[in-house]
Amino acid sequence: MPDRLTCSRRDFLRTGAAATAALAAGLQVPALAAGAPAGLGALAKKAGLFFGASVADEVERDDLYRALYKREAGILTTDWALKFGNLRPDATTYDFRDGDAMLGFAREIGAPLRGHTLIWNEDRPDWLMALSNAERRRVFDAHIDKVASRYAGKLHSWDVVNEPFWPGHGLAGGFRDGPWTEAFGPDYVVRAYKRVMSVDARTRLVLNEAHAESVDELGGQIRDGIERLVDTLLDAGVRLGAVGLQGHLATALPYDWDVFGSFLERLAGRGLDIYITELDVDDSGLADDIDDRDRQAADLCAAFLDTALKVPAVKGVITWQLSDRYSWYRNQLLAENPGATRLPRPLPFDAAFEAKPMRAAIADAFARRAG
Ligand code: G3I
Repeated sequence: MPDRLTCSRRDFLRTGAAATAALAAGLQVPALAAGAPAGLGALAKKAGLFFGASVADEVERDDLYRALYKREAGILTTDWALKFGNLRPDATTYDFRDGDAMLGFAREIGAPLRGHTLIWNEDRPDWLMALSNAERRRVFDAHIDKVASRYAGKLHSWDVVNEPFWPGHGLAGGFRDGPWTEAFGPDYVVRAYKRVMSVDARTRLVLNEAHAESVDELGGQIRDGIERLVDTLLDAGVRLGAVGLQGHLATALPYDWDVFGSFLERLAGRGLDIYITELDVDDSGLADDIDDRDRQAADLCAAFLDTALKVPAVKGVITWQLSDRYSWYRNQLLAENPGATRLPRPLPFDAAFEAKPMRAAIADAFARRAG
């Protein structure tokens, strides 16, 4: 079944310029079901949680999408703006325009902003890869000093290090290879947190990782790695505030919610908060029927959140964008196959910003947490 929009309206919304015209024509962000309460951010707050989404420059081009964030998001995470690959076009330049724009948008909608991410072994500009390890070590320290100083006191939290693990690289401890691991070895992780602490005494520091949710071999390796690394950080005196579990779920992966729940409890037992930082559902393994895909994605999301939100240390949920239209899954697929017609549906709102069953599943999970 097509998204519940007339073809003319859906076509009309295809471009950002049309969105502005749509607003001028009095076209609103599709209303929630009649009588439904306010957005997910407000529902989360009633449960003592936060809810929000990652954000990138689409909100500067698409006024309807901007309005959807205003209604739904109670917290934001920078997607691309504060990544090394965007901040650092070359070895001598820091380009803060996007980061400052995202901070401005967060302030405009009254949402705190999470910084993602100071140090990641991916998103490596060519100029960095061309440096010696000694030069990379100087870049590492200078980057953290400059960026963390600039945003000190302005952010809700930092994903100081993102995705430290990738067992597929074959390194001891399952660490992810890349320019920082090559320059320092796994010690780059502790160094990064200590460096931020030396220039910013306030911002909550988060370790952010993917793939901790499933009960396949990778999930077990990642959970073990996170626990070891958290203990290393805490033993080193790092002011670690939370662990970010990304929550990129997939209907094709195996889950055992007792296993995942026990993992959450072990992290909480270390005095840490837990954020679900990048929730979405990869539905590529499902049959084509949209209603069936949306229902199964919503059911998986519900099961995951029921487990996560039973743990008091879990303080909030952030999806990786709000609408299917701007999901990284869709961007990735269309970059590989511009003519693709079966498009991913990983998020709570469809490409026309209509609420999907996943939105109701998230809202219901918040209501259950609220009791
Ligand atoms: O904005 C530039 C544009 O100016 C330039 O012309 C173009 C040329 O390639 O690149 C554009 O930047 C792209 C950026 O997204 C913004 O669209 C980068 O190439 C592209 O690599 C980047 O992809 C992002 C990816 O992380 C790598 O940073 C995805 O949007 C983003 O959704 C994805 O998010 C990651 C999280 O950070 C970590 N967890 C997994 C998650 C999904 O992969």
